Amino acid sequence: MIHPEKLANKDFLSSCDLSVDEVTHILELAENLKKKELSLNLKNKVLGLIFDKSSTRTRVSFQVAMARLGGTTIDLNPSTSQIGRGEPIKDTARVLSRYCDAMAIRTFNQSDLEEYAQWSSKPVINALTDLEHPCQALADFLTIKEEFCNFENLILTFVGDGNNVANSLIICGALLGVEVRIATPKGYEPNHDVIKKAREISKFKDSLKLFNDPYLASSGANVLYTDVWSSMGEENQKEEKDKDFYGFTIDNDLLKQADKNAIILHCLPAYRGKEITDEIMEGQHSRIFDQAENRMHIQQALLACLLS
Ligand code: CP
Ligand code: NVA
Repeated sequence: MIHPEKLANKDFLSSCDLSVDEVTHILELAENLKKKELSLNLKNKVLGLIFDKSSTRTRVSFQVAMARLGGTTIDLNPSTSQIGRGEPIKDTARVLSRYCDAMAIRTFNQSDLEEYAQWSSKPVINALTDLEHPCQALADFLTIKEEFCNFENLILTFVGDGNNVANSLIICGALLGVEVRIATPKGYEPNHDVIKKAREISKFKDSLKLFNDPYLASSGANVLYTDVWSSMGEENQKEEKDKDFYGFTIDNDLLKQADKNAIILHCLPAYRGKEITDEIMEGQHSRIFDQAENRMHIQQALLACLLS
């Protein structure tokens, strides 16, 4: 077990920023908070939210998490602040970190997030970039732990685009010793550096497997996971991607390949009939809404650690 103080004042820009012990600690803390076995206090703490892209779950789960811990959030809408008029990141970061105790940022380039962190005197949290969605991955693995009790001998198959969500799952899965299989059409494989990093940190040899056949990848899987085919910022590629991802829908046929007790996850928002069918989303294997709830428990645990 780690000392939670070790996480205080750290940035959380990537799933790689946490050690195995730190991920384990955050998951345990979130479980305890969810069961109301623990209560923590962040009275007088302020979290700044800067979201350059739309959000429902991430924004609201941070807001509710802070409220439940006795703190406050300030939602800085880029279109009504000077951020939207092009104030440099290095100036915004220095000013806001004198007002706020931490900042959760959703933006396009990972390098912009890193620039915020470089100039901020307070912790910066990745609330999604084009490269990663590390808060999402923590909630995903909490949902998996609740279902299976531990991560031993588990296979997680992600079917779809090798995007931000897939990248964070790959790294977090490597830390926790879960076999992660990624099934994408050719040309949509996950980020090369993420693959390399995951293979370096993985507890087990060959625990990350890449496929171009979703059926092969889903064979015996305990978790089937998918995300939108076109992420935010890729709206102009939608038509092309809809064609390229034909056959990569999580439907009953694909579910039949998986373990009989397999669960279905999706980070949401979902496009029913594209990456997942309505029947699967609403079916008995789906844990998608528990997963969405867990965003809030994880944000509480993460904030408690970083602001302790
Ligand atoms: N899963 C997720 O991050 O959802 P939002 O885009 O609604 O925040
Ligand atoms: N890959 C998606 C995730 C949304 C939560 C996107 O970036 O739009």
